Amino acid sequence: MLKQIFMLKPVFDSQTIHAIIEALRKIVGADFVFVDEENKDKYAHDETENLHFVPDVVVKPKTPEEISSIMKLCNEHLIPITPRGGGTGLSGGALPILGGVLLSVERMNNIINIDERNLQVVCEPGVITEVLQNAVKEKGLFYPPDPSSKGSCFIGGNIAENSGGPKAVKYGVVKDYVLNLQVVLPNGEIIWTGANVLKNSTGYNLTQLMVGSEGTLGIVTKIVLKLIPHPKHDLLMLVPFNDLEKASAAVSAIFRAGFTPSALELVEIDALKIVSRYVDSAVVPVTDDMAAHLIIEVDGNHLDTLMAEMEAIATLLTEYDCGEVFFADDAQQKAELWKLRRRAAEAVKAEGYSIEEDTVVPRAELPKLIKGVKQLGKEYGFDVVCYGHAGDGNLHVRIKKPGSKYSLNNQDVIPALRALFSLVNELGGTISGEHGIGVIQKEYMDIVCEPASLEIMRGIKKCFDPNNILNPGKIF
Ligand code: LAC
Ligand code: ZN
Repeated sequence: MLKQIFMLKPVFDSQTIHAIIEALRKIVGADFVFVDEENKDKYAHDETENLHFVPDVVVKPKTPEEISSIMKLCNEHLIPITPRGGGTGLSGGALPILGGVLLSVERMNNIINIDERNLQVVCEPGVITEVLQNAVKEKGLFYPPDPSSKGSCFIGGNIAENSGGPKAVKYGVVKDYVLNLQVVLPNGEIIWTGANVLKNSTGYNLTQLMVGSEGTLGIVTKIVLKLIPHPKHDLLMLVPFNDLEKASAAVSAIFRAGFTPSALELVEIDALKIVSRYVDSAVVPVTDDMAAHLIIEVDGNHLDTLMAEMEAIATLLTEYDCGEVFFADDAQQKAELWKLRRRAAEAVKAEGYSIEEDTVVPRAELPKLIKGVKQLGKEYGFDVVCYGHAGDGNLHVRIKKPGSKYSLNNQDVIPALRALFSLVNELGGTISGEHGIGVIQKEYMDIVCEPASLEIMRGIKKCFDPNNILNPGKIF
């Protein structure tokens, strides 16, 4: 893998970079161009494994026009340019693996307009997801996609990765809310991809092509999102199981019985123990006979209906040998439960489970995936904990292999991951549900994408970015 990265490395000498830095200062102002080691180091990593790639320069533009000038400059001099949002990514999408220019959108953080007539919001890419959610909630509106990192990730990054989160099971992922995007193309042109409408059959869907393109086709500078009315109530319960496969089998049974929870998450017991310690919480009593918990939320406007629904789901789960159900009584208990779930990734990473996979299979195949993951752990000698969006069949598989902090370019880990992704493929799934391919998953694209599909993707990249300057070395 590293060999591949070096082969991609464009040749730019220190003189060129010096000239680029001077030109960047003219474009955005000297205060927003950083070349000191401390600043460059801050942008050398995200949340992916423990990877570290230092850019030559960090630039923080404020307007689409400035980004356009930066793109033209980099295109002319064939300098790699890596866009970055909140830096919370889990596939290395924002890592400047070839050096060059790191472009942070953090100064572009305005919510431009909340359109209450049309239930839409227009914002810039550097708005923190939770800030946007809170702003629209004040108007009774709801923007559902809620990655675990919602308190620090940016809407721009969410669009780049087509992020999901717990609410996706009922409300869909980012792509389901993006109506229109303003994008700066690698040649510096500024375009709008569509229109601010709920239906659009006008040519190819450039908006959806941008969503999930991991900052490889253009840099998003304005975003129009669809909003929905905020549901008035939600109820949350935690259900323990002493058998992991039964817990995962219960997931699809809930939907088959006619329920659509607003969240249906699974947390394996080892992950729960680790995160409870990490955040110093005793809210969930953990005993040795437990194997996993389901976190189940329902939401809507009628509390009575929701209570009846929760009871019916709890009754159904007894058929899967669940333990005693814990209902979160108030906002504080709900927040505490969600904290345990949302901070699982960072907690298990701190515990040495540094390699995270983002497997996704058709929901009813989840028990086979979980069983297979455990078998592969034994076969390939790694410890594994799982948690994630069970209702979507989207399981985060966290791996700890003695001596291996990375999966990137690691021959000790790659065969195990190939086996894992082959299993996922056999089950009809794929290798990323919401984290993207970035730099760490591209090794495995051949398992789930036919050569002809990959060729089409490469052709699209070439069409947008013939000089391969924009986020090079990602996806392919
Ligand atoms: C989560 C992130 C890792 O679900 O996607 O916690
Ligand atoms: Zn997730």
